[in-house]
Amino acid sequence: MRLQSVLLWIFCFSSVLAVKEYLFKNCDNSGFCHRNKHYANQIKSLGSAFVPHYAIDPSSVHLQESGQDFHIAGTIIKKVPNIPDLQVELPITVSLLEGNNVRVQIDESGRNQITVKNKYVNHRRYNETGQWAFASEELPYISKKDVKLDISSDKLSFTYGPAQEYTAELQFLPVKLTISYKDEPQVVVNDQNFLNLEHWRVRDANAEHLSDEQVDFDMFTDSFGDSKEDKLPLGPESIGLDFTFKNYKNLYGIPEHADSLNLKDTTGSNQPYRLFNVDIFEYETDSRLPMYGAIPLLLAVRPELSVGLFWINSADTFVDLDKNSDSGDSRTHWISENGVIDFMIIVDKTPAAINKNYGLITGYVQLPPLFSLGYHQCRWNYNDEKDVLEINSLMDKHRIPYDTIWLDIEYTDSKKYFTWQNDVFPDPEGMMKELDATGRNLVVIIDPHIKTGYPVSDQFRKQKICINDATNTSYLGHCWPGESVWIDTLNPNAQALWDSQFVWDKKNKFTGGLSTNLHIWNDMNEPSVFNGPETTSPRDNLHYGGWEHRSVHNIYGLSYHEATYNSLKKRQSHTTRERPFILTRSYYSGSQRTAAMWTGDNMSKWEYLQISLPMVLTSNIVGMPFAGADVGGFFGNPSKELLTRWYQAGIWYPFFRAHAHIDSRRREPWVAGEPYTSIMTDAVKLRYSLLPMLYTAFYESSVSGIPIMKPVFYEALDNLESYSIEDQFFVGNSGLLVKPVVEKEADDIEIYLPDSEVYYDFTNGNITGDITKFQLNKPGYVKRAVTLNDIPVFLKGGSIIAQKNRYRRSSKLMVNDPYTLIVAPDSNGNANGKLYIDDGESFGYTKGLSAKVSSIDVNYVGSLSSIEIEKIVIISQPQSQINKLIIHNPKLKVAADWSATFATDVEHDEL
Ligand code: GLC
Repeated sequence: MRLQSVLLWIFCFSSVLAVKEYLFKNCDNSGFCHRNKHYANQIKSLGSAFVPHYAIDPSSVHLQESGQDFHIAGTIIKKVPNIPDLQVELPITVSLLEGNNVRVQIDESGRNQITVKNKYVNHRRYNETGQWAFASEELPYISKKDVKLDISSDKLSFTYGPAQEYTAELQFLPVKLTISYKDEPQVVVNDQNFLNLEHWRVRDANAEHLSDEQVDFDMFTDSFGDSKEDKLPLGPESIGLDFTFKNYKNLYGIPEHADSLNLKDTTGSNQPYRLFNVDIFEYETDSRLPMYGAIPLLLAVRPELSVGLFWINSADTFVDLDKNSDSGDSRTHWISENGVIDFMIIVDKTPAAINKNYGLITGYVQLPPLFSLGYHQCRWNYNDEKDVLEINSLMDKHRIPYDTIWLDIEYTDSKKYFTWQNDVFPDPEGMMKELDATGRNLVVIIDPHIKTGYPVSDQFRKQKICINDATNTSYLGHCWPGESVWIDTLNPNAQALWDSQFVWDKKNKFTGGLSTNLHIWNDMNEPSVFNGPETTSPRDNLHYGGWEHRSVHNIYGLSYHEATYNSLKKRQSHTTRERPFILTRSYYSGSQRTAAMWTGDNMSKWEYLQISLPMVLTSNIVGMPFAGADVGGFFGNPSKELLTRWYQAGIWYPFFRAHAHIDSRRREPWVAGEPYTSIMTDAVKLRYSLLPMLYTAFYESSVSGIPIMKPVFYEALDNLESYSIEDQFFVGNSGLLVKPVVEKEADDIEIYLPDSEVYYDFTNGNITGDITKFQLNKPGYVKRAVTLNDIPVFLKGGSIIAQKNRYRRSSKLMVNDPYTLIVAPDSNGNANGKLYIDDGESFGYTKGLSAKVSSIDVNYVGSLSSIEIEKIVIISQPQSQINKLIIHNPKLKVAADWSATFATDVEHDEL
């Protein structure tokens, strides 16, 4: 272990200083980013005097067909000015996929022949990121008959799309790809000639391989802080490429950053957005620093069209955004440390269509077990069985519904995962049973670092399923338990051993024997290594297949939580509760298929409540909608007002969990006392009453990728003012528009109504009082007074939402409760909505049990179809004097065929 690392580690974890930027690389001091940026700056200043080094050899271009699939293959020749005889061959493949999706892959063929000193290192360019990110091995390539293809001596072009309105044109010299819609260019790739692929060379010959525009900064060594021991056995191997979005100014996505929804310009002194999964201690807001997860999907949106760019690479990546060009275009520069160039460009009419098409590749969010949409009560730590069960009954005493209690790392025996601290948790099975009695669940933490010197890690080491150091022996680093090894879940042999920890066996104490209400939290899976460079694994560590950690860094977290999901799924298959729930801190494209995420270690401060909204919104628009932030803030002690406001906002996070650091004071809702306790309780109850609506939003997302917490601009694409609104949002397609109060001592809020539809004031989910309607002739702001009690919510005319309004202790106990329908007519008097119902725990829904009812679609399993509607509340039309009609006990079954017609001359408030 290195002395400087240990000192740094002690410093980090004993101090309370905010994150220091100097602990993390930026583009200037990161070798590969620095070099690419320098190259780009040189090319910019040379202007038309720059002679491109890359060209496609026209004679190499040919069609590759296999079955229905077809690809265009060819070779890019890279010229190295100082070595005229050297022509670096870079095979390129262009393919078309369903969803107006163009994929380009560029590799380096010379890598197959080289030998490197370290015989354990795989010297090829890593090209397996897609295998982890994609939902299936079979990608939906479109067949040749659906495409018009033209190849000439200087370019090739495809025309594709349902009405053949999209064109992709690949020019050979300089290499340039233009994607157009109805002949209007949308994206131009390599418009700025920043294409750069650092080809293989040995250190001694390096100087010759550089062109005048290049510098050799940190090509064979790393001079940054704690990374100096990186051996960089393959030398420089970075890739860089520019993408110009024609006439697009609004860019979104590429999480994870504690930053605005609409991405910022990063030119001038601003640092690029960085995608490199790290355990960032006390992260700051308004920052482009990397965080725990990475989804390299960028959305560019304007009223008529949207573009998605998916950069399929799992190495350290920087993305520079220039939104200031006079042309009205946005120019972006993508730089990764290594790997092949592999990207997809999706063009379609709306951002929702981009979500749908991206989901065809990476999959949609898995429909979670219903309980996991309830309220999660967590802290580091609930100390013992008594503590857990006391919290459980205090929830009932205060009539606060909740579904899950969580145990952080202290439940284990000395942080040895898969064990219990026996003296304080003597009977986990009994504890789980008691929770189960009221439909409650237990989530326990299992991290990927496994303490050395006990049977689990001994076995993992023996079976060689750990991440290795550069000498190919199990890497030893430090994390919570002290010295640890890390399971290498990229190794296919790891799954069986991981499964064996969760095995369905009554003697398995870790799982509470045959308990069926245990689920798992995967934390620290960036991976977090306290004494590693940038608090993570050294980049020259090795994974299965000889791949260096630098190549796979951003998919490690995904591979880990997927392994846990697979193990839990096998275990749950013995029960009717088939759907596992996994929370992960680190993630990548595709993580949505098996886990929920949260935004890590935030602080008990107003700005962290505020930033949580754009962060969760961003996660939602890049296909990872099951997202939330620690309610109350992780570090520190929130004021009672802040905590209350955080609950009122947190009930709208798709993942709703209160969590707190071990040093923070207890803050379960009853601790604050009145009036706070009642207000927080009311907020939680509102979440529960809206679970039918929320579960429907999850279902819709699970088949279409539609965000659950949905930015306002999704419903107001013509209205440019909506493009930067990040403090209010819609909930799925329900018509609910929410504006949480996130300012201290607020007396009023200004809500932006993005269109001229009528909006009904639905504050606190309450329509029993006076119903204020807002119908503006054009989009605009409306002021509303608020007290501490208020959760401002508005319901868009034209919607119907379903609620369950009885208080129950958990969502499980609500299953047979009747529905109330809220009908909010639009200005023409029409409304419709959707309700999705199933058993909330099995995979029965995948077997297609469904029925349709009136204007409400119902998808049901078994006896749920007979649940009654106990009340229909119809908010009156805007022009009417009457506030609402309430139909009590209409004697309707939710899944029976029914319809209702109402006369317009009703004079009473209630029928
Ligand atoms: C990390 C997690 C935090 C957890 C703690 C202890 O900091 O982000 O949520 O409580 O580790 O496990």
